[in-house]
Amino acid sequence: MPEAPPILQLDSASLAAAALALQEGRLVAFPTETVYGLAADATNDKAIAALYAAKGRPQFNPLIIHIAEPEEARDLVEVNEWAESLMLAFWPGPLTLVLPRLKDCPVSLLAGAGLDTLAIRCPGYNGARNLISSTGVPLAAPSANKSGTVSATTPQHVAEGFSADEVEMILAGGKCVVGLESTVLDLTGETPVLLRPGAVLQDEIERTLERRIEIAGDTEKPKSPGQLKSHYAPSLPVRLNVKTPEEGEAFLAFGPALKAEHNLSEAGNLLEAAANLFALLRALDNPKYKAIAVAPIPNQGLGLAINDRLERAAAPRG
Ligand code: TXA
Ligand code: MG
Repeated sequence: MPEAPPILQLDSASLAAAALALQEGRLVAFPTETVYGLAADATNDKAIAALYAAKGRPQFNPLIIHIAEPEEARDLVEVNEWAESLMLAFWPGPLTLVLPRLKDCPVSLLAGAGLDTLAIRCPGYNGARNLISSTGVPLAAPSANKSGTVSATTPQHVAEGFSADEVEMILAGGKCVVGLESTVLDLTGETPVLLRPGAVLQDEIERTLERRIEIAGDTEKPKSPGQLKSHYAPSLPVRLNVKTPEEGEAFLAFGPALKAEHNLSEAGNLLEAAANLFALLRALDNPKYKAIAVAPIPNQGLGLAINDRLERAAAPRG
């Protein structure tokens, strides 16, 4: 049995240690009013890649970006009128708002799964906000459970799921008062859409906005964000499993043997490849090329998520 991460009571000493670990790119589990989150520095691609690896997700699902003060949302996303009203009514609290990402948004493209929107949340639990403000950067934090298992609401749940190699420490703040993940509301379209129900209820949102909202699944909208039309795909065609690129193609290599201008990871390291993926796809999406040709990526560990994302980028355009 691998060793479980240490559980530390949340106090000023453990907060300082946790903030330092996060600044150095490591992962820390922490309590919020909804469920325990597994946090990484949202601006650090490598830390985000490690977070996906620890979660064991076969896909890059976009992560919720946690901020210490409602006003900090303005540094990351376009805050529209709906968001203004909801922030005033429900933040800090268990409501996540999906908004358009600012052009100069410092959050890792990988954390947002390459989308041009970001999910932002200002948690209600003071200890959580103290951790974010001590770290000094927004924190990406999915629920602190392995993919496919239920969300963790106690420090012991978290300890059962992760080893000390994956997670630096678990900050303990007792049982989560809500116990259910936050409500997720998409404010990027013509109508607000409830993507995930939670403690902030549909009718409270409708009363605040003085209008009806849609429920994902009510319409023909696909449920999983991975399927969303807005999901980033390069403008150029993408060709996969390419060993030798054609004339005029931009080649995205992987591994040491491949001499190429652009390499996901010369060392053949999947963590590094994940961290570089979205930035390199964007960099190569230039009309001076006819297509982007991508080298084969091993289909194991984080490679599963990288290949999932590449297959979406290469899929025929609708
Ligand atoms: O209560 C919570 O929200 C917890 C705590 C730790 O804050 N976090 C959490 O994160 O539940 P996670 O990663 O397990 O769930 C994130 C949800 C997913 O349903 C994801 O699809 C959605 O938020 N999401 C994130 N970014 C999105 C985006 N840009 N567009 C649409 N949905 C998004
Ligand atoms: Mg989850």
